[in-house]
Amino acid sequence: MLGNRVEYTQGSRFAIPQETFSMKPSDSLCLPGSLLKRLQGSDHVMVLTGAGMSAESGIATFRDAQTGLWAKFRPEDLATPQAFAAHPARVWSWYEARREKVRDAEPHAGHFALVELESMVPRLSVVTQNVDALHQKSGSGNVIELHGNIMRSICHLTSRAIDGEWLAKSNDCPPRSPWAQDGLARPDVVWFGEPLPAGVMEAATKAAVMCDFCFSIGTTSTVQPAASLPLLALENGASLVEINPQETPLSLHADYCLRGSAARALTAIMQQLKNL
Ligand code: OAD
Repeated sequence: MLGNRVEYTQGSRFAIPQETFSMKPSDSLCLPGSLLKRLQGSDHVMVLTGAGMSAESGIATFRDAQTGLWAKFRPEDLATPQAFAAHPARVWSWYEARREKVRDAEPHAGHFALVELESMVPRLSVVTQNVDALHQKSGSGNVIELHGNIMRSICHLTSRAIDGEWLAKSNDCPPRSPWAQDGLARPDVVWFGEPLPAGVMEAATKAAVMCDFCFSIGTTSTVQPAASLPLLALENGASLVEINPQETPLSLHADYCLRGSAARALTAIMQQLKNL
């Protein structure tokens, strides 16, 4: 359970490396004016999100102790092409259970804060590792899905899309594919060892290179190639703010690390932007 406290640490690119500023336990996070002005004056904001962005919408993260999916299941049993080949019914059922959660989930205040920010800057790209489409549901207009979308299904042999109507008519687990004789339906998500969908990494890399302000929100920054995107933005001159209750390998590189939840930190940022 996250506390009410939002803290920020000032990163190594500023004068005081790794100094931690503890804020009063209130909602009002006090971001430095210079940083807010940079955000306000930026031409292109890139927002990289991970599972922590969806946590306050009730979707489980992967690596959080106790509550993370990978604390209860082994990724190699459920999120690899080999696992699907060996146990298609087990893998399909696990994704069905996750789909149920995603179907019921609603975006939170942090998602809506990003939509508002999008209306205030010339360009904002959301690059997400999440497969739940909550950014699109909240109204974000420019979303790059790095790891696919759990609500879509494809043929495991041809990768052609399979529509929901076809799936609903099937009693098989997993349903058979309409596109190949031995084909099965599988979730349209990227599994470990698989490449990202065509064009997606190119679009994300372009956003990272072009942006002048980058947020990394709710990700452990351990899964590549996503984890390298904020560093690419940094190399190309962007300011970098991390939002995460926990330290990550990216924290050392960030201009600011906001140690709080995505909803709290993003709503606080938007409030202060509007008061500038
Ligand atoms: P993880 O589950 O590894 O990490 C979630 C991160 O979110 C952690 O750093 C938490 O501290 C942070 N967090 C938790 N609650 C938060 C909140 N309310 N607000 C902000 N941050 C919070 O998720 P990812 O790093 O996104 O890939 O995982 C990356 C990829 O690994 C996933 O896309 C998935 C997974 O295996 C595939 O399945 C290919």
